[in-house]
Amino acid sequence: MKRLNFMLVLATVMLATVSCGSRQQTSTTEEAQKEETPKMLVLYYSQTSNTQGVAKEIATKLGADLEEIVPVELYDGDFQATIERGKKELDEGAYPEIQPLTSDVAKYDVIFLGYPIWFGTYAPPVATFLNSVDLSGKKVVPFCTFGSGGLESSTEDLAKAEPKAEILPGYGVRAARLEAMPAEVDNFLKANGFIEGEYTKLDEFPEQHEVTAEETAIFDAAVDGYPMLNADANAVAVRAIPNGMEYLFTAVDRPREDNPDMPPAGEMQVYVSVFEGENPVFTKVIR
Ligand SMILES: Cc1cc2nc3c(=O)[nH]c(=O)nc-3n(C[C@H](O)[C@H](O)[C@H](O)COP(=O)(O)O)c2cc1C
Repeated sequence: MKRLNFMLVLATVMLATVSCGSRQQTSTTEEAQKEETPKMLVLYYSQTSNTQGVAKEIATKLGADLEEIVPVELYDGDFQATIERGKKELDEGAYPEIQPLTSDVAKYDVIFLGYPIWFGTYAPPVATFLNSVDLSGKKVVPFCTFGSGGLESSTEDLAKAEPKAEILPGYGVRAARLEAMPAEVDNFLKANGFIEGEYTKLDEFPEQHEVTAEETAIFDAAVDGYPMLNADANAVAVRAIPNGMEYLFTAVDRPREDNPDMPPAGEMQVYVSVFEGENPVFTKVIR
């Protein structure tokens, strides 16, 4: 308990320092925004409306244009049918036809491109879109929703698909944490200079250390019940976040011979947040 109190005091001190620092960064951001007003489009695909919610939030906050990528043949709502069709399209590189866009992508400077993560990357309708355009010279901001993670891997694929576009840092959120999204989007847009205002800039994580029994319990509680995460934590680093602590675990999958559709066993990074008075939650996994 004493240790927890100490950590909370430490967190408060660290965040106070950060908030002073962020004020200075905000004024630089404001100056930059006055100089130019880029034309921004929020373009997204969403099957079950999670990504649509993020897209609308971003477009509203930016006052940007918004358009949905719509496949000609919709994926039906059944999860297993979608898995089978999506896997086949991915394996064969046979991406679905999409409806023509009403927006003229060429006239925008910044494209926010949103998608659900399917099999570790952007869903196939977004691959179709990328195959049909040349985003050379444009700034592209990826955003996505996922069960456990995929922002980083999909961003790498995006950079390969559009090598002459400037791919900016993106935003991703677990489908199970969408209630945290509006505040996170607000902070993300401010931190990256798209809208004005103060934002929270977190400290870098320190070096990881071997997990203690207490940290193992936090990891286990965070991933408990999530079928895709069947892993043991080995090492961790801890930093302060508003109203709590964030843990960056290195974990290793336990063998999954029982289910060949599960991702291959291996090392992963798992981010876990513990907010004051709440149970630990994992926020993303990087495989
Ligand atoms: C075919 C399919 C494959 C998926 N693959 C992954 C995956 O590899 N990793 C992951 O974290 N979530 C995966 N998901 C979960 C979706 O990314 C998640 O439910 C997302 O929020 C759906 O967004 P939407 O409502 O905008 O369609 C998958 C979902 C489907 C239907």
